[in-house]
Amino acid sequence: MEKLYTKDTQAIFWNNNKTAIQRMLDYDYTIQRKTPSVAAIVAPTSGNKFEKFFYGPDEVMIPLYKTTTAAKKEHANAEVLLNFASFRTAYDVTMEAIELGGFSSIMVTAEGIPERLARKMNNTARNAGVTVIGPATVGAIAPGAFKIANIGGTIENIVNSKLHRAGSCGLVTRSGGLFNELSNIIAINADGIAEGVAIGGDRFVGSVFIDNMLRMEKNPEVKYMVLLGEVGGTEEYKIIEAIKDGRITKPVIAWCIGTIAKHFSTGVQFGHAGASANADAETAAAKNKAMAEAGIYVPASFNDLPATINKVYSDMLAKGIISEIPEPKMSLVPKVRRSKQFICTISDDRGEECTYAGFPISSVATPDTGKGIGDVISLLWFKKQYPQWATEFIETVIKTVADHGPAVSGAHNAKVTARAGKSVVESLVTGLLTIGPRFGGAIDGAAKYFKYADDNDLDPKAFLKYMKGEGVPIPGIGHRIKSLKNPDLRVTGLMNYAAEHFPSTPLLDYAKSVEALTTSKKENLILNVDGTIGILMVDMWRALGYSESEINEFIESGTLNAFFIVGRSIGFIGHVLDEKRLAMPMYRHPMDDILYDVQEAEKL
Ligand code: ACO
Ligand code: LMR
Repeated sequence: MEKLYTKDTQAIFWNNNKTAIQRMLDYDYTIQRKTPSVAAIVAPTSGNKFEKFFYGPDEVMIPLYKTTTAAKKEHANAEVLLNFASFRTAYDVTMEAIELGGFSSIMVTAEGIPERLARKMNNTARNAGVTVIGPATVGAIAPGAFKIANIGGTIENIVNSKLHRAGSCGLVTRSGGLFNELSNIIAINADGIAEGVAIGGDRFVGSVFIDNMLRMEKNPEVKYMVLLGEVGGTEEYKIIEAIKDGRITKPVIAWCIGTIAKHFSTGVQFGHAGASANADAETAAAKNKAMAEAGIYVPASFNDLPATINKVYSDMLAKGIISEIPEPKMSLVPKVRRSKQFICTISDDRGEECTYAGFPISSVATPDTGKGIGDVISLLWFKKQYPQWATEFIETVIKTVADHGPAVSGAHNAKVTARAGKSVVESLVTGLLTIGPRFGGAIDGAAKYFKYADDNDLDPKAFLKYMKGEGVPIPGIGHRIKSLKNPDLRVTGLMNYAAEHFPSTPLLDYAKSVEALTTSKKENLILNVDGTIGILMVDMWRALGYSESEINEFIESGTLNAFFIVGRSIGFIGHVLDEKRLAMPMYRHPMDDILYDVQEAEKL
């Protein structure tokens, strides 16, 4: 790997850390990234499907997932995991991601992961070729391309520290706070940084100085490196080795903080878990001396570090190794932003012409477009342009259920309402409100139960037993007037269409085997029109490539009954207009058609 991140890098952010994610997106907007750097968020306990964030003046929706596996499945190109889990969970989250594969780097922010686990985690990552940044870090940044969470601070600070575009320095530190300080110093005394990593303060961190500096050696944007080490550990000696054996050839400026330790009579533990010298060679003074001897630019004190950086940079600039960096165009994040109350993902009326899922109305409305109502439904309900066999199936369903005469429950209610003097809309709604599990609204239920039975390999007998246990009649089975002897030709029509146009109909085949059993008990227990529609819609969605969870979601949200609602509205309106045309008087039900069985009230 030559560069840790590019302008196309996308991350999965583990934990819905809204402020940090917003800072990433503000950065993305400022540097004019094409895509947000956060592709998905893992929020294990949230029931929400997305989180809204500002992207400049507008808002974007970042999808939420319960697991890394689910997020990665949908966002395979997101190859960075930003693990913001607590120290209790961070290990498991990292291990799951390594096992899952497809991540080039994982950043672990938690401080205090047990050292035994941290070592195991780091080794597993190393063996899998995954770069771990951290634990106990604020992360890393490739200015002008990708920044992790809060590194660099606010957007103002980022621009002031020239972190909005690539400079020439490769910066590695342990500390996050000092990382920000150093990037500011480098901005003032040189042209900023090309890549920077705070490797983390724990004793056992994933990628160490040498890993990052060897990568920076290969990164053509990095012309020289600044290393801010600290008391404790021997990682700085690996840089000396690399310079000696020629693996690092670019100029290195370094300083180890903690030289004050020699003024204390006993060993000192500084803020970081790893910041304590266990041997003379681990003291800051010893490391600074060894680095200077190896030809690294080591200032006399931390205070002299800015001047050293300025000198190395100026020399390289004078020699033409570094050239002046032109300032790129930036977008300004507005100071005042207002979050939107409503979201619409299906149609957009802001342009000259309203669009249905991106299709201007004129491109679907007239016959010459070749589009029908099935296309419009596929666009507005499912936000996809379905193939012709599927849109024509939808239209066949709508036409098939448009009406079934005046006697059916809903039409009867609509007619009675119209005769009471109510309007078309009131009468229509009365009819629609009749649609339910017994009448017309058994489509979702049929899809749900037949799919469940088929998914669980229940044979028809076992399915019937299961439904008996549930205590509900099988949705999609049975009809008041249709039977084996008086078959429902609507059902035959739908089945014939499917046989001719569907790639396959596995759920319908299963449902027919159930029907064979129910009709052997009672001949009107046929697969009815609701059942046939629900089952064939599942077969259609499967053939269209929807996942099982997407199909289950359609069923749960009542999508299937909506086909009956749309279709039958046509018939109900017809009946209402019929009543109005005939100027029918108010309806009163004949009393001789009612069994009156009213007893005198019992006195309490
Ligand atoms: N599953 C299992 N047994 C059933 C079913 C069923 N879906 N439907 C009826 N039965 C049984 C009843 O338990 C009853 O048994 P029993 O005689 O041993 O007591 C017998 O058949 C008669 O029951 P009824 O409710 O009187 O049947 P009817 O033929 O009058 O009802 C109805 C028709 C309401 C459609 C019924 O079959 C049913 O509830 N089906 C499920 C819901 C459904 O699919 N509705 C959509 C119909 S199509 C449309 O509206 C567009
Ligand atoms: C319908 O389409 O309304 C029905 O199948 C119900 C019925 O009673 O005819």
